[in-house]
Amino acid sequence: MSLKGRDFLTLKDFTRQEIEEMVNLGIDLKAKQKAGIPTPILEGKTLGMIFQKSSTRTRVSFEVGMYQLGGSALFLSTNDLQIGRGEPIKDTARVLSRYLDGIMIRTYSHADVEELAEYADIPVINGLTDDYHPTQIIADLITIQEHKGKLEGIKFAYVGDGNNMTHSLMIGCAKVGMDVTVACPDGYMPNPEIVALAQSYAAESGGSVTVMHDPKEAVKGVDVVYTDTWASMGQEAEKEIRKKAFVGYQVDDAMMALAKPDAIFMHCLPAYRGMEVTDEVMESAQSVVFDEAENRLHAHKAIMASVM
Ligand code: CP
Ligand code: NVA
Repeated sequence: MSLKGRDFLTLKDFTRQEIEEMVNLGIDLKAKQKAGIPTPILEGKTLGMIFQKSSTRTRVSFEVGMYQLGGSALFLSTNDLQIGRGEPIKDTARVLSRYLDGIMIRTYSHADVEELAEYADIPVINGLTDDYHPTQIIADLITIQEHKGKLEGIKFAYVGDGNNMTHSLMIGCAKVGMDVTVACPDGYMPNPEIVALAQSYAAESGGSVTVMHDPKEAVKGVDVVYTDTWASMGQEAEKEIRKKAFVGYQVDDAMMALAKPDAIFMHCLPAYRGMEVTDEVMESAQSVVFDEAENRLHAHKAIMASVM
């Protein structure tokens, strides 16, 4: 397979065709899983999973996914690794490369993940940094494909904090030809360089990327409404300030009513009810958040099967 041996650090590094291939492989692996057809694509392989931040979905779905592909996965907390006591990333990368067939890492600094990938001679998968969350996007595209039957031309709105999710969504959705509108408060806008990059991808794919402040304007007539937490991991101390800054950005029934009647609501989870989204929207018939969470499993299997 053409993606074998590649790192999966951001979707910037993948073409539209490669992204669509991973999405379609995820859909295929999901169907096989449901039909009870074994897919031992990574028999005998081991994935190391380094976590410096908390995780429910990423950890469990990578571990279960690896098991379902015939391999095994190791949970490695940075609290227990020598990395936590100061062993350099470049040394850790070369040591782990002698034992493992792939590394998934969730950490703060994206530069740390790039350094790990530079020194490791096995594929490195970014399981979330402060700047990007690319594995989530493959799951999200699978979910949109399943619920809307297509990706190209889908009108997609993201409302809330211009964070790692916003960055990865803009890149991934623009590459597959979606029309993306992002609404964030002043001071919480996505990185302008990533916005410009996503706009260049959209120009190529026939999609669009528009960034604004007005959430109501952003969700008008869209197929998908997406939000994420107002305070990401590492921003816990800013919770109260952020709560005030994001007044008017909560996805509630009134906001959903501005989207298409058959619009879906998405959230990468964990969700904070009463903050970025109401309990009513989370529990509504329009909410596909648990399909989306399930699709992390199928997406991660597709990513690992492709690069490892
Ligand atoms: N969406 C997501 O990455 O969830 P976890 O933080 O639980 O892994
Ligand atoms: N933006 C969130 C995503 C969690 C999956 C965070 O970084 O905490």
